[in-house]
Amino acid sequence: MGKDVIIACDFASREATLAFLDQFTGKKPFIKIGMELYYAEGPQIVRDLKARGHKIFLDLKLHDIPNTVKKAMAVLSKLDVDMTNLHAAGTRTMMEAALEGLTRPDGTRPLLIAVTQLTSTSPEAMEQDLLIEKPMDQVVMHYAKNAALSGLDGVVCSPLEAEAVHGVCGKQFLTVTPGVRFADGDKGDQVRVMTPAQAKAIGSDYIVVGRPITAAADPVAAYERCLAEFVD
Ligand code: C5P
Repeated sequence: MGKDVIIACDFASREATLAFLDQFTGKKPFIKIGMELYYAEGPQIVRDLKARGHKIFLDLKLHDIPNTVKKAMAVLSKLDVDMTNLHAAGTRTMMEAALEGLTRPDGTRPLLIAVTQLTSTSPEAMEQDLLIEKPMDQVVMHYAKNAALSGLDGVVCSPLEAEAVHGVCGKQFLTVTPGVRFADGDKGDQVRVMTPAQAKAIGSDYIVVGRPITAAADPVAAYERCLAEFVD
């Protein structure tokens, strides 16, 4: 599994997404489709973008009872995406059911990645709202280990956690890391960030980059810069 840059296509419509991707003449970046675009346009947007030749990370973060997640994953497996995800908080039973649902009759399946604790959840919120009293890093590593034991392929995590996740779950366990910014760029609402070059150095497998590419004056140049720093 090679390292790659995944562009977060956080757009509200098919038109906006296609207008953005049309700038990439001759290139087919790996793209992430999240809840906003999926709920706006439905599964057809996934089929259309796949037909245009993109690899797709379908970021819907499933979390429900195991049977429901299994059936939902079986439906998603027919969309032929390359990667999808769920919340590790759904328990190991849910993750195992998800994997079963996602596996096609021929044994193939998209990569399945777990969200540990959302980076928007503060240690205070985790303790007060969720009544989880362990330290954040311990919780993240425990959830990552649960994902690995359930047979999942990796986790979404902060680039700052990627090295520790590899230490606990093995080098082959994938780390998919958002929160990437150029050294000379605007951080936006991300707090703990790394440059693509730093993410490469600490062993991230995939970086997920949104606004540094989508909001750039020249998105293609920004994408190329990510590739040059992270992959080449
Ligand atoms: O624009 P930006 O580069 O911040 O976008 C990062 C993408 O990664 C967004 O789609 C965001 O929802 C997603 N993400 C994140 N942090 C997480 C999980 C997902 O920023 N912990």
